[in-house]
Amino acid sequence: MGVSATGAPRTPAAAREVIWHELECAGYTADLGLWRALADEHVAPPGSAPVLDIGAGTGRVSIHLAQHGHDVTALDISPALIAALRERARGLRVEPLVGDARSISLARTDYALCVVPMQTIQLLDARGRAGLLRSARAHMRAGALLCCALVTAPEPFDERRGDDPPAPESARLDGVMYVSRPVRVAVNARRIEIERERVTLAARGGSGHDHAPERDVAVLHRLSARSLRDEARAAGLRPAGTLAIGSTEEHVGGTVVMLRA
Ligand SMILES: C[S@@+](CC[C@H](N)C(=O)[O-])C[C@H]1O[C@@H](n2cnc3c(N)ncnc32)[C@H](O)[C@@H]1O
Repeated sequence: MGVSATGAPRTPAAAREVIWHELECAGYTADLGLWRALADEHVAPPGSAPVLDIGAGTGRVSIHLAQHGHDVTALDISPALIAALRERARGLRVEPLVGDARSISLARTDYALCVVPMQTIQLLDARGRAGLLRSARAHMRAGALLCCALVTAPEPFDERRGDDPPAPESARLDGVMYVSRPVRVAVNARRIEIERERVTLAARGGSGHDHAPERDVAVLHRLSARSLRDEARAAGLRPAGTLAIGSTEEHVGGTVVMLRA
């Protein structure tokens, strides 16, 4: 996948990855106050030490923190999402980096706060999480915090069973209408599967073409705050409490587990 000199995604697949990510993640705001409060409390004055946003996507949290004076390193495994983030964060103190959260390797080792929003740590299996915890720890200054958002009480539904799904997200871009519709959340002892139908339609008067609907299934590992604290101890981090993220009409609430270096 290529990235153009301006940082914009170069291939249609990269552009579509950014659009779906934006549609499905960028509208979520329920946690932003919490991340800002943590940053303001642990990095005072803002900008005096860096913040690391792990799995930053297109910069929903990084940009919010940078707009409030913080100096942020935004790390994501996706070159397309990081290219979009670079465009969006222009003029702000955000350093966008492509990298794997399971083996973080950065120049700075003085982060005062590392954040892992939106259940990103639950995308990783136990081995991946161990890598994230160990390698994040190696980049934190003494007393720094690593804060990971978890979804611990997902609400299953299946529209095929007649359950009411949450409202779809939609956006019109360059004559094309993109619609993402959650159709199923399945929960078992080990995993949470979130299934969405993604539809691309030529908007009226636009030049785009309809595409067949696609199904996207995101798989999260079940992870309790207690298990994460145990895994963190093994990586040299100490439990430092939890915070709650309230639920909204579209999103279940969550727990933020705080871990101290
Ligand atoms: C649910 S999104 C959250 C995006 C952003 N943090 C937010 O809150 O809007 C998860 C992000 O984690 C990234 N990701 C998944 N696995 C990763 C890995 N191993 N290393 C770095 N980023 C990863 C994905 O590319 C995606 O951008």
